[in-house]
Amino acid sequence: MASVIEHRANYCGPVAEEYEARRASQPQWQAEHAAVRELLAPLRGTAGTVLDIPVGTGRFLPIYQEFGLTPLGMDVSRDMLRIAGDRGFPVFPGDILSIPIVGERHFSAAVCVRLLNWLHADEVAQALSELARVTAGPIIAGIRLLRPGAAPPRRKIIVHSQDVFDVALAAAGLKVARAIEVNANDSTVYSIHELRHVD
Ligand SMILES: C[S@@+](CC[C@H](N)C(=O)[O-])C[C@H]1O[C@@H](n2cnc3c(N)ncnc32)[C@H](O)[C@@H]1O
Repeated sequence: MASVIEHRANYCGPVAEEYEARRASQPQWQAEHAAVRELLAPLRGTAGTVLDIPVGTGRFLPIYQEFGLTPLGMDVSRDMLRIAGDRGFPVFPGDILSIPIVGERHFSAAVCVRLLNWLHADEVAQALSELARVTAGPIIAGIRLLRPGAAPPRRKIIVHSQDVFDVALAAAGLKVARAIEVNANDSTVYSIHELRHVD
């Protein structure tokens, strides 16, 4: 099974350099952009702040600029942080399992795309709890979930069950306000979710 450490090691050197060029033309990449943009649109003109973790190459920067939002990008890969920083993205090293922000609900919103399926079930709960701790408003989170009764597919990523996601949400005090499906197959559905505090 993948671990956070193995995954972190995957995003350095040439893998980081080629990360976006290898993916940016894929339909899933475009659909993720459209979903994140749609879910963040209500924040347009609010001058809010957004934590993007993992920021990767900083792919969502144009959306934050278009909406007048102030982003901070965090990642555990120094090479990915350098690429995002070179793009003009304000960045800081940070692990989603222990976000280096003191205090509660510091950011207006958070964005977490293409990470939760690399984390084990207990880490998904920890990551969502950390996002909930530092975010006041919507948490935009991508996750691929297993259809009820489907067998886990043979993939490099960990496809979590709806139960695992529900338990993680409850532990974090979050609920799904909205979800936009990015793509699906016989056994899994990949969506970008808008998560909100239950209270
Ligand atoms: C598939 S990339 C996704 C990047 C970006 N969100 C995107 O959608 O393109 C996964 C990223 O997660 C980062 N990462 C892995 N484990 C992490 C952790 N525990 N905390 C923060 N970032 C992590 C990796 O360094 C890598 O940049």
